[in-house]
Amino acid sequence: MELNKIYNENSLATMRQMPDNFIDMVLTSPPYDNLRDYKGYFFQFESIAKELFRILKMGGVIIWVVGDASENGSETGTSFRQALFFKKIGFNLNDTMIYYKNNPMPTSGPRYHQHFEFMFCFSKGQPKTFNPIIEKCKYNGLANMKNRGIKGELNYKKVERTTEKKIGNVFFYSVGGGISTKDKVAYNHPAIFPEQLALDQIKTWSNENDLIYDPFLGSGTTAKVAHLLNRKWIGSEISKEYVEITEKRLEPILNNLFVKI
Ligand SMILES: C[S@@+](CC[C@H](N)C(=O)[O-])C[C@H]1O[C@@H](n2cnc3c(N)ncnc32)[C@H](O)[C@@H]1O
Repeated sequence: MELNKIYNENSLATMRQMPDNFIDMVLTSPPYDNLRDYKGYFFQFESIAKELFRILKMGGVIIWVVGDASENGSETGTSFRQALFFKKIGFNLNDTMIYYKNNPMPTSGPRYHQHFEFMFCFSKGQPKTFNPIIEKCKYNGLANMKNRGIKGELNYKKVERTTEKKIGNVFFYSVGGGISTKDKVAYNHPAIFPEQLALDQIKTWSNENDLIYDPFLGSGTTAKVAHLLNRKWIGSEISKEYVEITEKRLEPILNNLFVKI
């Protein structure tokens, strides 16, 4: 199977060429609930989920970025059904993370503005790689602690507080023109996710030279970021028009021109 390549086909066809236990990490956002018009293309969720289990290495993870549409007065709940199906076929639901949009499109109807999508992390066994993003603790260094002894007396002691901790599982991103990516051509696709999201997730769940797969490549965000982070990658995208967007985005990178995220 050729690596660092876009397969212009149904992702089921691409995966059928892959051996078992082949991929280290999947990062993707499937087309969901006909929320966007992808020219009538659709995907067979259950078959794709089962193939993803087969091709993923033990300890590999899927980051599945998904939200629900509102139809006939109700949210569809598709994301929940998909998460439970992944569990049913053997994945662990390792972390239900949130992709929080600081500036979402306004939502109509008797509900609050939709600010987030789920970023499910499904793992095949325990994740083999976890490089958490670290932040400084607000309060750190030496601190005075007091507690009561068995006779009710007050004891004081100095304790060392940790200075750093892993961040929480809500990821905040601003989205939209010029923010999600600087590549103008990418906005010809209707549903890109931010490059920073791909960067955070790929760094967390994979190492250099690992193989990353995106079964719904869209405008190629996963491929671009994986390449810049020295990972190998494969992408499937059913629409020729979207493949051409990715080709344009990747051109400067594959020609070794200086590109920054
Ligand atoms: C939500 S978009 C992905 C966007 C991508 N994360 C980005 O940043 O550009 C989903 C994509 O899946 C593609 N698609 C739909 N069904 C497919 C299938 N069966 N196989 C491969 N691609 C498919 C659509 O054409 C669409 O571009």
